[in-house]
Amino acid sequence: MTGPVNDQQAKTPLCPRWEARADLVVIGSGVAGLTAALRARELGLHVLVVTKAAVADGNTRWAQGGVAVVLDGERDADDTVEKHTADTLTAGAGLCDEDAVRSILLGGPAAVNALRANGAVFDHESGGLSRTREGGHSAFRVIHAGGDATGAEVERTLVAQAGERRIPVLEHHIAVDALRTPAGEVSGVTVLDRNGVPGVVRASAVVLASGGIGQLYQATSNPEIATGDGLALALRAGATVADIEFLQFHPTVLFTPGARGRCPLVTEAVRGEGGTLVDGAGASVMAGVHPLGDLAPRDVVAAAITRRQALAPGGIDDHVFLDATGIPGFAKRFPTVYAACQALGIDPAVDGIPVTPAAHFSCGGVVTTADGRSTVRGLYAAGEVARTGLHGANRLASNSLLEGLVVGQRAAEAVAADLAAGLLPDPSRGRLPERTSAPAAERDALQRVMSRYAAIGRDADGLAAAGSVLDLSTQDSPLWTHKAVEDAALTLVAQAMLSAAALRTESRGCHVRSDFPERDENRWRRSQVIRLSPSGQPVLAEAASLEGVA
Ligand code: SIN
Repeated sequence: MTGPVNDQQAKTPLCPRWEARADLVVIGSGVAGLTAALRARELGLHVLVVTKAAVADGNTRWAQGGVAVVLDGERDADDTVEKHTADTLTAGAGLCDEDAVRSILLGGPAAVNALRANGAVFDHESGGLSRTREGGHSAFRVIHAGGDATGAEVERTLVAQAGERRIPVLEHHIAVDALRTPAGEVSGVTVLDRNGVPGVVRASAVVLASGGIGQLYQATSNPEIATGDGLALALRAGATVADIEFLQFHPTVLFTPGARGRCPLVTEAVRGEGGTLVDGAGASVMAGVHPLGDLAPRDVVAAAITRRQALAPGGIDDHVFLDATGIPGFAKRFPTVYAACQALGIDPAVDGIPVTPAAHFSCGGVVTTADGRSTVRGLYAAGEVARTGLHGANRLASNSLLEGLVVGQRAAEAVAADLAAGLLPDPSRGRLPERTSAPAAERDALQRVMSRYAAIGRDADGLAAAGSVLDLSTQDSPLWTHKAVEDAALTLVAQAMLSAAALRTESRGCHVRSDFPERDENRWRRSQVIRLSPSGQPVLAEAASLEGVA
């Protein structure tokens, strides 16, 4: 059944067909999830990973550029973690949590060294690791693997380790809702298998590592699984989310007319190694826009491309070009991008690569500490689903794999510490959710209005129009299939984003308002925090909730 439900059906109790137990259940099998699971196992916890695709099919494997990290003996002579911190704060446009930034970046070298010790192979050149630059970085500190296949190497390493250590993984199961104790603590999750058969995992702790929300838009660099399920689960479990209006658009995905769904990324490292953005007439897109030119922070480059496309002499253009003809050995250095170009008959050695911005990364998410504790006891989050304060209003390139490695590990350590301190709930006290339905909009309509009104260049009228369309196309639907769970998650996250974006009457980082083009430091140098009202609507909470993590 996929249509709307009546009140009786909405309250039909969930009848799980099976039940499992663990100390810790991890939702998601990307870099943050598998890192958390592996560390939990090392600490002697019984861990179960739940993932809605196959274990290696998360967002991580699509990451191209690399891992930003300042390693001893593998860095520019004058580079330091302090400089990496400064670049991250600049990119974050005033909304990073400086303590979290410093703490996570300081944890980077040990996390990367551990990954290498466990078999990850990064690219070398004479004298050490190859390092590149990406937008917003003041030094060559992005290490990479397989040329432009860094995420695939990270994922390969973690999946292999998880296999060797026999970590149980429930593939093709989607987490639906949290079990909660009478005191409101999270103590497990309900899940559906690919046929919609319900089950329950009882656990003292849940670590959300479910990735991003790119499928809110028609074109994205994210795979189909990036539907915001973890964010929605956290909101329904009473957690707070913040900075949700800051959805980062990657400046360059490969343009194909009318493209929908996941579009091939053209890594920023292409610009790091000399590629330049030009319009259809061959004029530079970034000249005079920012002192770092083509390597300006991502929000600046994506907005500049969008403006240039809108101002094309013949009317609105749908792409610009990345001129990489001066990069020697392009096919070897960027094999993934090269293969995607070849499939379209483009040879980057002689042709400009047609590119356009697309939805890429959620800078906001479930509010957590730098070690993954959320505002609800028993619930932790790591990776893209979390808002640790590392990214602020705009993530610095290649900080996300690093965050997944560092916070994934710390989240497992936080669970172990909280369990040992007797702070976590008895899983047998967790109750099944009372409602088994949620409002869901038709996905195509949702993606259309979000792409039109909530991308780069928003205004009050457009955001209101998007909200109305969503309201009109939303019906209460039973959460009985993967698609229904995803549609409900996309709907809730879209509502939260539209509310936060409408309230933020300024432009900052990835949030670009055409009716408020300036940054407003007096009023808006602060995060917006959202939670669910008793009737299930995303509403603004006191910003003090940012400090109230459990
Ligand atoms: C890229 O390679 O440009 C994407 C990497 C990232 O999103 O950090």
